[in-house]
Amino acid sequence: MNQIALAADHGGYELKEAVKQLLDERAIPYHDFGTNSDESCDYPDYAEPAARSVSEGNSERGIFCCGSAAGMAIVANKFPGVRAVACHDEWAAKMSRLHNDANVLALGGRMVSLDEAKRIVIIWLETEFEGGRHARRLGKITDMEDAPQPTSQ
Ligand code: RB5
Repeated sequence: MNQIALAADHGGYELKEAVKQLLDERAIPYHDFGTNSDESCDYPDYAEPAARSVSEGNSERGIFCCGSAAGMAIVANKFPGVRAVACHDEWAAKMSRLHNDANVLALGGRMVSLDEAKRIVIIWLETEFEGGRHARRLGKITDMEDAPQPTSQ
């Protein structure tokens, strides 16, 4: 596994630190885009550079943590080529890889325990994309990203 981009706000800070420990144990490289404390901050400030890193291919995948996972997923999905999924259990994480080739895992520090989050991360890291009909569907999403955007008059 190449580099993983990590990002968190205050609601996901503790979770991000636990994910770092897990990645260290598995010798998986990462770049930590912050935040670096549990002081209140704005999740877009940390999601943006981390999502850009995935979008531009400098990170193979990302794990973004906030309170609910929602804000991180919303920001991440603004970036071309990023497929972020908020996962609150192992089944969702597994499906996000098998069917959606999710390259960003969004986790909610107020939704899951640290132990459950670690199980989610492990299954998400270890599950490969199934391809086939799912690749055709992802191709349709890429086509949308590539299509000219309508302009407002
Ligand atoms: C911060 O209070 C919280 O809104 C944030 O962590 C996240 O849940 C947003 O989606």
